[in-house]
Amino acid sequence: MKVTVVGTGYVGLVTAVGLAKLGNEVIGVDKDTSKIDMLEKGKLPIYEPGLNELFLSVVEEDKLDFYTDIGAAVRNSDIIFICVGTPSLDDGTADLSQVEEVARTVSENLDGYKLIVEKSTVPVNTARWIKRTIELYNKGKRVDFDVASNPEFLREGKAVYDFFHPDRIVIGVDSERAENILLELYAPVNAKILVTDIPTAELIKHASNSFLAMKISFINMISDLCDKTGADVKMVADGMGLDSRIGRAFLDAGLGYGGSCFPKDTRALFRIGEEYHLDFELLKVVDRINLKRIEKFIDKLKDALWVLKDKVVAVWGLSFKPDTDDIREAPSIKIIKELLKEDAYLRLYDPKAMENMKRLFPPDERVEYVDDMYSAVDGAHALLVVAEWGEFKDADLSRVASLMRTPVVVDGRNIFEPGEMAKYGIFYYGMGRGKSV
Ligand code: UGA
Repeated sequence: MKVTVVGTGYVGLVTAVGLAKLGNEVIGVDKDTSKIDMLEKGKLPIYEPGLNELFLSVVEEDKLDFYTDIGAAVRNSDIIFICVGTPSLDDGTADLSQVEEVARTVSENLDGYKLIVEKSTVPVNTARWIKRTIELYNKGKRVDFDVASNPEFLREGKAVYDFFHPDRIVIGVDSERAENILLELYAPVNAKILVTDIPTAELIKHASNSFLAMKISFINMISDLCDKTGADVKMVADGMGLDSRIGRAFLDAGLGYGGSCFPKDTRALFRIGEEYHLDFELLKVVDRINLKRIEKFIDKLKDALWVLKDKVVAVWGLSFKPDTDDIREAPSIKIIKELLKEDAYLRLYDPKAMENMKRLFPPDERVEYVDDMYSAVDGAHALLVVAEWGEFKDADLSRVASLMRTPVVVDGRNIFEPGEMAKYGIFYYGMGRGKSV
C-alpha cells in the first residue's frame, strides 16, 4: 500500500520505517527541512535502538522516501498517518494545531479516496474535528475519505520491538472500508487486534498512559512511606506484583515519569474530564506526586552533604529514561537547575543524550560534560543516578568509591542494592529503601 507518515519524530520515524519493512511504499514527510535533509543523507535525527539498521535497509530497498511537501505526499498515497506532536498548552490542554494543519493540507490535496489515520495521542473525539476540517476546507467537493484512530504504544528505547511485537493493535473506525484497509496493513504483524469505534480507540490510548502514570505515582507515594518506616519499596513492589491482578510492571519507584507522553497525557486527560464536569482529580494528584519527586531527591542529597555550594556533583543519565537521547521532561533538567541554584559544580554523563542537553545547558565553569561514567565521579562529592542505563548497573563500584572525594550515591532509580553499596563504604541513598550507611 502507499502510505504517508506525517511527522518524523520518535513515533513517526519508527512507524514509517516499520510500515516500509512490512512491504509498503512509504513517504515520511516533515515541514522541518533540516530533518528531511538528514534523512535524505541516510542519517537519523534521533537515537532509537535498532532503528538505524532497519532504516538503512528500507531505504536501500526503495521502500521509504522523504518529502517536505505534505500536499505532494498526500496526493501520492492512499493512507495518511498523522504522527505530529500534540504538546501541552499552559493549562495542560493538548495543543492540536499541528493536527489541524495536517487535516487542512490533506483536505486541499484530496484527489481520490484516502484513509486518514490518527496515530498521535489526541483527546477523545479529535477524529470528528479532523473529519469536519477536511470537509470544511474541501469546499463541498465530494471526495470520499475516512478517518480512523490507530493509537501508538511505542516505548522509546524499545519502539522497534514494540512496532513488530505489540501487546495489541487498536483500530478505531466507523466504516468497513477503513477497517479492512487497516486490517490488511497490519496483517503481517502477529498481534491481538481490537477493533472499536473511533472515540473508544482514542480514549484507550489516553487511559492507558494515564493508568501507567498512576501506577508509578502510586508506588512513589508508597516509597515515601518506606523512607519514613524502613520498609523496602522494591520488595513491596515485588510482593504486590506477584498478584496477577496487579502485575509488577510500572511499579519501579524513583524519580517518577518524564518524557513527552505521561506528563502531557495525564494533564490532558484531566482537562478533558474537567471539560465534561467530571471528577478527574485523581489524575491531578498523580501529576502532583510526580512533580514532588525531584524535591525529595534533592533533599536526600542535602541530607548526605549538608551544604551543596561548590560541591562537585556527578550525574549519571540525562535522558528521561535509558536507551534514548530524548530529554523532554527529563528529571535531569530540573535536577540540574536545582543544583545550579545551590552553586554546585556539575559533572554530567549520558551515553546518548549529552548533545541534546548541551543545547539547554551549554558547558561552562559549573557545567562539565564528560566522556565516561568514571570521569564523572573522579573527585566528586556525590553521584546522582538519574536514568538507569545498563552500563551504570555494571559499574565497578570499588573504582567508583575510590575515585570519589566523598563516596555518596543518591540513586534515583534504585539500580543498586543498599547492602552491596555498604561493602564498598559508600553512603547510599535509594528511593524508598532507607540508608545503608
Ligand atoms: C509511554 C508508553 O509506555 C507507551 O506505550 C506510549 O506509546 C508512549 O508513552 C507514548 O504515548 O508515545 P515512553 O514515555 O516512551 O512510553 O516510556 P515508558 O517506558 O512508558 O516510561 C515513561 C516514564 O516512566 C519514564 O520516565 C520512566 O523512567 C518512568 N517509569 C516507568 C518509572 O518511573 N517507573 C516505572 O516502573 C516505569
